[in-house]
Amino acid sequence: MLDKSCHIITFGCQMNVRDSQWLGRVLYARGFRQTPLEEAQVVVVNTCSVREKPELKVMSTLGRIRQATGGNPRVLVCVTGCVAQQLGKALFEREHQVRLVAGSDGIAAAPQAIERLLEEPDLRIDLLDFTNHYVERESAPAPDGKGEPSAYVNIMQGCDNFCSYCIVPFTRGRQKSRGSNAILEECRHAIAEGAREITLLGQNVNAFGRDKNGDGTSFAELLHHVANLPGLERLRYVTPHPRDMGPDDIAAFKELPQLCPRLHLPMQSGSDAILTSMRRRYNSKDFLNLVEKLRKARPDLALSTDLIVGFPGETEQDFQATLRMVRECGFMSSFSFCYSDRPGARAVLFPHKVSAEVAQDRLLRLQELQDDLGRAWLEKRTGSTTTLLIEGRSPRDWQGEEPAWQGRDPYGIPVHVELPAGRDHTGQMVPVSITQAKKHSLMGRRLVQTFS
Ligand code: SAH
Ligand code: SF4
Ligand code: F3S
Repeated sequence: MLDKSCHIITFGCQMNVRDSQWLGRVLYARGFRQTPLEEAQVVVVNTCSVREKPELKVMSTLGRIRQATGGNPRVLVCVTGCVAQQLGKALFEREHQVRLVAGSDGIAAAPQAIERLLEEPDLRIDLLDFTNHYVERESAPAPDGKGEPSAYVNIMQGCDNFCSYCIVPFTRGRQKSRGSNAILEECRHAIAEGAREITLLGQNVNAFGRDKNGDGTSFAELLHHVANLPGLERLRYVTPHPRDMGPDDIAAFKELPQLCPRLHLPMQSGSDAILTSMRRRYNSKDFLNLVEKLRKARPDLALSTDLIVGFPGETEQDFQATLRMVRECGFMSSFSFCYSDRPGARAVLFPHKVSAEVAQDRLLRLQELQDDLGRAWLEKRTGSTTTLLIEGRSPRDWQGEEPAWQGRDPYGIPVHVELPAGRDHTGQMVPVSITQAKKHSLMGRRLVQTFS
């Protein structure tokens, strides 16, 4: 009798989070139970290689697994995701416990491979080929039919943009849109399992349907179809590309009340010279125009972004342009990173690399500005009323009169609120007034509806 216990460790973007959730559910359906790392027969590391740091983290995680499991050769370690795609079979040499390496498309066959590897302890399997169509996966129902209030649904795989710093087109492959019927089917399932909110996922969602796998449905049309599914309260998506956001995508913010007033719109840099060299295909003026149009379509829209500092050739002046743009766009939050060379990406060959000290100094200055903007944005929310989608018990229980719960507002901000005892509020929509701003979250008070 095989010990069917597993432990999944996830790095990277929401696509990886979704892949891990899928794998966990499929393994569960096949009789696996989730255990702590020390007790697991199968350990899956779902990896990210977008920057050097996450890649190094994967290597240290393999070492941590070896220690936690005493190097037991009967423990099956599987590496999936972008580092698996990037390093391939070389991972077998790095760590003797690794017997499955499954890349971006290969992960679809990982459950069968895992079962086979448990039966055959001397076998190693690599699943590294890219397919030329979107691979539909085995369906993965939520355990006991009860899913999360907020669900992720993939709409495409890969990316064709080849921004000069980015490894994603190499690790996730070329863009492949998923069929709109399959997407809608998965959304309906998620809603039937309790989802009130759906986030559509892809590396460049606005280009959905524009590759040869497209079925004639545009991204804006898809948004309309999903938004109108009965039972859905909220719709979000990541990641858009400023260059590919068309008028219909902008109009959707005006037309679809389900579409949340929050957009994560990666700007990367505020300098035109750097944007050109990044091959982003827009300049600062295009970006500002887009922001203006979006805010016109949805006046309460809150924007967040991704930024890279220390890109090759970035001068202090270029960096100042980024600071100016961040202020001008008034981002509520941002993820910012020091540039790092990624294998295969063009910028590896670019001259005038910025030293680590200079890049780090710019990163800190940028983050200081962003902290101020973020704090001001959160503080402006106090006194307003909003609706929360309750996700579960609050991790910060402040021992109030009633139990503490956590939900998210339409902007995706975590809000803590006391709700009546004796009931599970998960998945409920609760109106609240915002009473206080914390560093990255808000406190709210339930609004009790009065009937006259
Ligand atoms: N598809 C998305 C996100 C891609 S990866 C987009 O188009 O923006 C997530 C973020 O990682 C990027 O937005 C970028 O800010 C950062 N990133 C990607 N490659 C990087 C590199 N080589 N060095 C530093 N940051 C990088
Ligand atoms: Fe990478 Fe650019 Fe594609 Fe985003 S759009 S995944 S940054 S190549
Ligand atoms: Fe990382 Fe791959 Fe996502 S490189 S950001 S896990 S697409």
